[in-house]
Amino acid sequence: MEREASAAGQSCLLFGGKVSANAGVLFFVLVIAASWEEWWTYSGISGPEFWGVLNPEWHLCSRGRSQSPINLYPELLLFSPHLKPFRLESVKTSATMINTGHDILLQLSESASVNLTGGPLQYSYVISQIRIHHGDDSSQGSEHSIGRRFFPAEIQLLGFNSDLHRNFTEAMNARSSEGLVGLSVMLRIGNVSHPEFKAISSQLSKVVYRDQRASIERIDVSRLFPNTKEYMTYSGSLTQPSCNEGVRWIVINKALHISRLQISSLRKLMQGDILNPKASLSNNFRPLQPLNNRVVYTNIDFRHQNEERCPSMQRNMHYKTSPLHPNTMY
Ligand SMILES: *[C@@H]1O[C@H](CO)[C@@H](O)[C@H](O)[C@H]1NC(C)=O
Ligand SMILES: *[C@@H]1O[C@H](CO)[C@@H](O)[C@H](O)[C@H]1NC(C)=O
Ligand SMILES: *[C@@H]1O[C@H](CO)[C@@H](O)[C@H](O)[C@H]1NC(C)=O
Repeated sequence: MEREASAAGQSCLLFGGKVSANAGVLFFVLVIAASWEEWWTYSGISGPEFWGVLNPEWHLCSRGRSQSPINLYPELLLFSPHLKPFRLESVKTSATMINTGHDILLQLSESASVNLTGGPLQYSYVISQIRIHHGDDSSQGSEHSIGRRFFPAEIQLLGFNSDLHRNFTEAMNARSSEGLVGLSVMLRIGNVSHPEFKAISSQLSKVVYRDQRASIERIDVSRLFPNTKEYMTYSGSLTQPSCNEGVRWIVINKALHISRLQISSLRKLMQGDILNPKASLSNNFRPLQPLNNRVVYTNIDFRHQNEERCPSMQRNMHYKTSPLHPNTMY
């Protein structure tokens, strides 16, 4: 179905041209609070349409106007010459991988901070978690889409503003406008396995069921990123309850290729625990949210594209890119 592109394990997303009493009460409250996490799902009566009413703290899931994910319309991107390349520190760090029943979460060790600066960011951020969204077949899985085209999976690096906050939870609870950052890379399926993704995929068989954990000794998250400085950026939200806004999203303009074996190890994961595995964890993506009045910026200067880079969209046009041609994506 899909034609494979570059051998380098990466390919452009945007193609151009076409491109007591008290104690008792307290206990009760704690039990409820702890179980909220288990209540929401990606389908049915606890699915995305109902997240906002399941828990009053999650009202932004239904009432927020700057929600994520969104579809990125190539023809509506606004080029900004002020967007500099971002800098993701190359650091070897350890991580704990957890099957949350909603997704695969990598909680990065705090001992070595993976800093993210520059690009559209006014502050310094520290990446503290990685989340993976994937589909049961290659036509779906990613949360963001490009010209309404979805990818088999999406890796999201989530970080907090380390100039203003001490950790992710604090930044999330502060609900400040520049509190969090999300760095997103789309995955596609190629012939070769991706060496850094192997640090994750080789451990997935240990976290098939909910609450299972595995340690990842060494991962350099910067190596999960394709070699490009081109990105699209907008202001959005967490894509899971509580759907907090104040997340600056940066979507990389290149996909990362992983092998069929690597994607199939994601598709074997389950939502439930070992006694009650429930359904597959696949298709853990939130539906697209309205853009409303937001603008999506890009640093891709379509005027100055040469052949080695992703093909140009339109020459001599500063503020408009041509529509994505479906057949040029693969
Ligand atoms: C992948 O392998 C198939 C069959 O071996 C081959 O036809 C195809 O060109 C390869 N694709 C890439 C991107 O190397
Ligand atoms: C990362 O940022 C922290 C402060 O947020 C700083 O202390 C540390 O030196 C930075 N690390 C690198 C490698 O720049
Ligand atoms: C986050 O920081 C707050 C202080 O602002 C602290 O109370 C809390 O324990 C920290 N959380 C984690 C997970 O380290």
